[in-house]
Amino acid sequence: MAKYKIAWLPGDGIGVDVLDAAKIVLDKIALDAEYIHGDIGWEFWRKEGDAFPARTIELLKNVDAAIFGAITSKPVKAAEAELVPELKGKGLVYRSPIVRMRQLFDLYICLRPCKGYAGNPLNFKENINLVVFRENTEDLYAGVEFNTVPDELSEVLMKLSKPFAAFKDVPRDQLAISCKINTKKGSERIVRAAFEFARKFNRKKVTIVHKANVVRATDGLFLETAKEVAKQFPEIAMDDANIDAMTMWLLKNPFNYDVLVAPNLYGDIISDLCAQMVGGLGFGCSGNIGEKLAVFEPTHGSAPKYAGQYKVNPIATILAVKMMLDWLGETEKGNRLEAAAAQVIKEGNVRTYDMGGANTTLDMAKEIAKYL
Ligand code: NAI
Ligand code: MG
Repeated sequence: MAKYKIAWLPGDGIGVDVLDAAKIVLDKIALDAEYIHGDIGWEFWRKEGDAFPARTIELLKNVDAAIFGAITSKPVKAAEAELVPELKGKGLVYRSPIVRMRQLFDLYICLRPCKGYAGNPLNFKENINLVVFRENTEDLYAGVEFNTVPDELSEVLMKLSKPFAAFKDVPRDQLAISCKINTKKGSERIVRAAFEFARKFNRKKVTIVHKANVVRATDGLFLETAKEVAKQFPEIAMDDANIDAMTMWLLKNPFNYDVLVAPNLYGDIISDLCAQMVGGLGFGCSGNIGEKLAVFEPTHGSAPKYAGQYKVNPIATILAVKMMLDWLGETEKGNRLEAAAAQVIKEGNVRTYDMGGANTTLDMAKEIAKYL
């Protein structure tokens, strides 16, 4: 029996292409693992009314880790329109399977390292090395949303919230509410994860990203909780910044920052910005980490226009594989994989289109495999 069971979730579009590339490097590095395919994504929504079928949820309960490609998501109404005729009108609601997976398995850490590798023509500046910790289960992604506000809700809000009066005459079907829900526990554990990472890897500073001056209740709770946690890590510097200002300062001087921690939405935004500074979507890797399970993925989506063309850059996914190896405790293999990817980036002989080359997804993976 293999040492590890890994769920293999290609999903839609280029998710398939980049996971084929991941398999090439994993086979070469000879991880002692069994890879078990799981169905996820748009096709399963269309045909079964569920983009994250129960059998895939069962699979994830019985693996050590998972590698996920990407899925296609569409707005609610467009999603309903694409259901097979037998499923239409049954009141099925499309929700992103990756968001559901994060919540269902309590994968509360979204870890996004953004490291610039030498020789990458897409680097914004040389030697950027930022790490984003994004809270992954709550905040505006809690899924508590109304695109027609029920009368009960609006009556309660009229009673309890003065500012809601400004919306009292808006027709119910022209009013939408998405709830931002943050907890002390959720805030505490993501900030703690960021500080523990900083301690383990000798990072100098953790920056708390928020908008507590305006979004007082939820971001206020996040910031206050973060300050309490920081006291337990006196050797690590802490500062905080508003999300809007943060985007400017990060561009102005990325070297002033080190580890960033943020609630879900701001973390999503800031990690795309950081990923762009080290090469863009082809380089953004991500780990969704809980106590029992971790799911590793490139941050990009399914890029339908490139699906099946084996054109896109597999490095984001290969770096996600490195993160998985580290998480499994296979750090020697993880380091070797990162060094091989860094070598191929530096030499620049094999490059996908985004890096100015004409090589395929699989060419890149095979070139990296040569150094393993
Ligand atoms: P996307 O990330 O799929 O692609 C946007 C563009 O970025 C592509 O057209 C391509 O030009 C470039 N790109 C993406 N990955 C690349 C790679 N590995 N190498 C080189 N270039 C790359 O975002 P888009 O087009 O906004 O969304 C497409 C679908 O993916 C949507 O249905 C969206 O909902 C979904 N999505 C899924 C995510 C996930 O599965 N975690 C994350 C983001 C979007
Ligand atoms: Mg994103």
